[in-house]
Amino acid sequence: MKPVWTILAAAMAVVASAMAFAQSEEATSGEAALPSLIDLRQVTPVRGDPVAGKQKAELCSACHGTHGIAVVSLFPNLPGQHIDYLYWRLVAFKQGHFPESPMTPPALSLSDTDMRDLAAFYASLDPVAAQRAMDADPDAEPVVSEPAAPAVLARGEQLYRSGDPAKGIPPCQGCHGADVRGYAAATRPHGGGRMPFAAFPSLRHQHRDYLQTRLDAFRQQQRHATSNDLVMAHVGNRLDEESIQALAAWLSALPPG
Ligand code: HEC
Ligand code: HEC
Repeated sequence: MKPVWTILAAAMAVVASAMAFAQSEEATSGEAALPSLIDLRQVTPVRGDPVAGKQKAELCSACHGTHGIAVVSLFPNLPGQHIDYLYWRLVAFKQGHFPESPMTPPALSLSDTDMRDLAAFYASLDPVAAQRAMDADPDAEPVVSEPAAPAVLARGEQLYRSGDPAKGIPPCQGCHGADVRGYAAATRPHGGGRMPFAAFPSLRHQHRDYLQTRLDAFRQQQRHATSNDLVMAHVGNRLDEESIQALAAWLSALPPG
């Protein structure tokens, strides 16, 4: 397996040239028809008030569930996700990068403080406790997926851990962690207090259909909002239907915490 930093360095080099290209396009076209790419290579840690966030989360629970666990298999779960990732995704929706997403109208109504507080609230939820509360809730209608065949799960784990050199797929664990909870050194500060890897997401505790749809979108190179989208798109363009199905099956079968 290639060392993690080789994969990351290659991805960041692609990002640097893509960002430079996007900026020169904007400069020559005079005005940008769509919002500019958000550069997450320079970000400092996000902070918010989880108690205030809880009070603002009622609007969100219609789709993301009262416990943060989505009521529809195509929607994401939020408990325990990294605050930086949650915040920057909200910013991307609010800026209008994904006009057709069901997430755009709710994001438009949020202030910057709201987004920080909501990100802090969902990041503070313990995914194991949230799942337990959901399972015990008589009013909840949990999403149930068909169990996947053992061979499919084994293939998913193999791809996650080792990638597939023949298809050019890098090991996912290099960026999403051996424990699948996000980049291992995410909160190690870089120069000037920057934390460029803090917004690399955890992939635990997501519905299979949601993962499959997101991986399909990266594979098809659908709109990019941030430099991190470009990093992941660099991986997505090597995936195919077989690898996406295996990865989504294995990841969604992991325990939440
Ligand atoms: C109408 C349903 C709906 C409502 C209401 C809603 N969301 Fe979403 N949310 C979605 C869907 C669908 C997605 C996936 C969208 C996509 O990938 O384009 C999503 C994605 C997200 C993501 C990205 C998660 C990830 O893993 O990438 C965050 C963060 C989020 N929502 C937070 C919120 C917050 C906070 C609120 C309340 C202010 C909220 N949502 C309200 C449907 C909704
Ligand atoms: C070079 C680093 C890198 C590698 C390798 C990588 N990813 Fe990612 N991935 C990212 C980043 C950064 C994001 C965040 C993109 C964003 O902000 O939208 C991401 C986002 C994702 C998401 C969206 C999560 C959500 O909640 O919506 C999924 C799913 C995903 N990656 C799966 C994978 C799988 C499966 C592999 C292995 C085939 C993989 N990634 C390999 C960096 C990487």
